[in-house]
Amino acid sequence: MAEAQNPFADPLRFERRVPECAIVIFGANGDLTKRKLLPALYQLAADRRLPASFAIVGTSRTAMDDETFRAKMRPEVQRFLESGNFDDELWTHFAANLHYVAGDMNDPALYQAIRDKLAQIGQRNVLFYLSTQPSYYSIAADQLGAAGLGESAPGAWRRIVVEKPFGHDLASAGALNARLHAAFPEEEIYRIDHYLGKETVQNILAFRFGNGIFEPLWNRRYVNNIQITAAEAIGVEGRGAYYQEAGALRDMIQNHLLQVLATVAMEPTAVFEPHAVRDERAKLLRSIKIMRPSEVAQFAVAGQYHGFREELGVDPAAQTDTFAAVTFYVDNWRWAGVPFFIRTGKKLPKRSTDIAIQFNSAPLSLFGSADGELSRRPNLLILRIQPEEGISLRFFSKHPGSGMHLRPVSMDFKYGASFGGRSPSAYETLLVDAMVGDATLYTRQDMVEASWKVVEPILENWQSQKFHFPNYEPGTWGPVEADKLLARTNHQWRNS
Ligand code: BG6
Repeated sequence: MAEAQNPFADPLRFERRVPECAIVIFGANGDLTKRKLLPALYQLAADRRLPASFAIVGTSRTAMDDETFRAKMRPEVQRFLESGNFDDELWTHFAANLHYVAGDMNDPALYQAIRDKLAQIGQRNVLFYLSTQPSYYSIAADQLGAAGLGESAPGAWRRIVVEKPFGHDLASAGALNARLHAAFPEEEIYRIDHYLGKETVQNILAFRFGNGIFEPLWNRRYVNNIQITAAEAIGVEGRGAYYQEAGALRDMIQNHLLQVLATVAMEPTAVFEPHAVRDERAKLLRSIKIMRPSEVAQFAVAGQYHGFREELGVDPAAQTDTFAAVTFYVDNWRWAGVPFFIRTGKKLPKRSTDIAIQFNSAPLSLFGSADGELSRRPNLLILRIQPEEGISLRFFSKHPGSGMHLRPVSMDFKYGASFGGRSPSAYETLLVDAMVGDATLYTRQDMVEASWKVVEPILENWQSQKFHFPNYEPGTWGPVEADKLLARTNHQWRNS
């Protein structure tokens, strides 16, 4: 039989070169720039993935000249560089292309100064990156539009990357979108969700659609439930003021974890092209059942850790969720009736993100198992996103010795052991993608809106009630209600 063409074969994907361009970072004095963006760009330079003619222009309100900005960023890049291989000589070379423009984002003079800087640097392709406080996103869009900075010259491009959160509800996401569209065409708007750039999240597609043996099992006939856990051991780390407005549901589930769910559950695409992959993700997100207000108490649990209200910048009576667990159902032929349990929280026992796909038990128990209950330990496929990166399959095996006693064992794939070396960070991947113009791993407005529609009934319900917070201790797996959520359908969290 002729082999069908592999839709994911894209030999150029990792070879492609970034064109000559400039990246203008709004919010250059902020956390994301020093922790993620500049270290990622430096690493790309170290890996020779950037063109010889490349410039970074940082902008924020703080008055600084180029030299001061470079001196300020040097120790930060050194500190946050994941590979740890900081090289003085390379930094000198890299920093020569690092510029800075100070100004107020409300002031048209800033945009004139940016225009002058770009002209001075001589770059026609420009990627604007919004990493400011979210309330400034639409101001930047308006001003970039008014200054004509969104318009590209013939043969060149102008693009904009918008950091999360994209709006704080459905209406504000729509409003932000309209403002962006006034300055940039849709195909030049890149809404970032850094989870989609993680190697392990990208690998979900390779695993599902690059292999023939898993896809036949990937449906309601064989899958009992799917659990997605994104646990963090840290608290809000000085981001109390932002976080108390956001909460776990908005901060992690509306974007990152619904994108992960969509990646796990979407239909295969015919080709591996941006519109095709994004169409399938969008379709899946639109198939998630929207809860009625009366169902929220049954399907969603909010938690807050003891001590959150004492964090810097947090209201002592804050009703913020620092933990959220939700049961989603996907109303399509593949997944009807299969619960997707999602949970995330701060101050949980460990940092660990994974997806556990639990299969139905064998129809008959022919054998005894060590714990006497085979059906309680069903086959489990765990896609480990971080910090461990890999995939495990748990199944039963005969315990050596007389008699037929079974014991769960596991088959493990570990990225490090199989591939060696370091995987690129999500920001390295996504920055390159934006610069080469590949939006596959970026979200689209219809996806953003579909996810807001899914979480909005929960947000509204939570806003209208008064919780008895705090309701979990740091270092535990959230409130007991999260266990009860699963117990209602005779399930339990995998590792709690
Ligand atoms: C961010 C959230 O988007 O993702 C943070 O705002 C969270 O609160 C972070 O800590 C988690 O990202 P990662 O890559 O460390 O899992």
